Amino acid sequence: MRNDIERVLIDERVIGKRLDAMAADIERDFPGGTLVVIILLKGALVFAADLLRRVPRVLEIECLNVASYHGGLESTGQVDFLDRHFPEVRGRHVLLLDDILDTGRTLYAVSRRLREEGAAAVYTAVLLAKDKARAVAAAADYVGFVIGDEFVVGYGLDYQGRYRNLPYVGVLKGAVR
Ligand code: XMP
Repeated sequence: MRNDIERVLIDERVIGKRLDAMAADIERDFPGGTLVVIILLKGALVFAADLLRRVPRVLEIECLNVASYHGGLESTGQVDFLDRHFPEVRGRHVLLLDDILDTGRTLYAVSRRLREEGAAAVYTAVLLAKDKARAVAAAADYVGFVIGDEFVVGYGLDYQGRYRNLPYVGVLKGAVR
């Protein structure tokens, strides 16, 4: 797997240190009471597991399956909700976790749906944000790292379903794509 990676962009140790700081920010910012965390599958799985274990408060954890990329390199622009049931968020404070903010369509669509479902407040956290103009008005409240506009894999992010279990964020060799 390592042979398919052209370069490591963010290594495991750096990610861990940044997650310590993000968890401290989240812990400081939220008032008491149980926070509902919604993890966007599958990309945010690794990020969420490592971040949430650093947040020493009562959390309710839910997952949502959305499809926006369909395993390729380009965003299709459409965000599909794939679950039969939507988590109960009425009147709750919600923290939405995603792996990467790219065009912004995913965070925009899911945040809007959470508000439509009656969430009292919606906050967003992403591991990565690409340094580019968003296609829609979307921003994250918590950002791990700002990266260039290139396709990355690892630490939850995939190319055609693979590389999610790499412990770092890296760039694939051109020959692999
Ligand atoms: P949008 O465009 O909706 O994108 O902000 C969010 C989703 O697109 C996927 N994405 C990527 N996946 N490497 C990946 O493996 C990337 O560089 C990349 N950029 C966007 C990802 O699923 C994210 O949740």
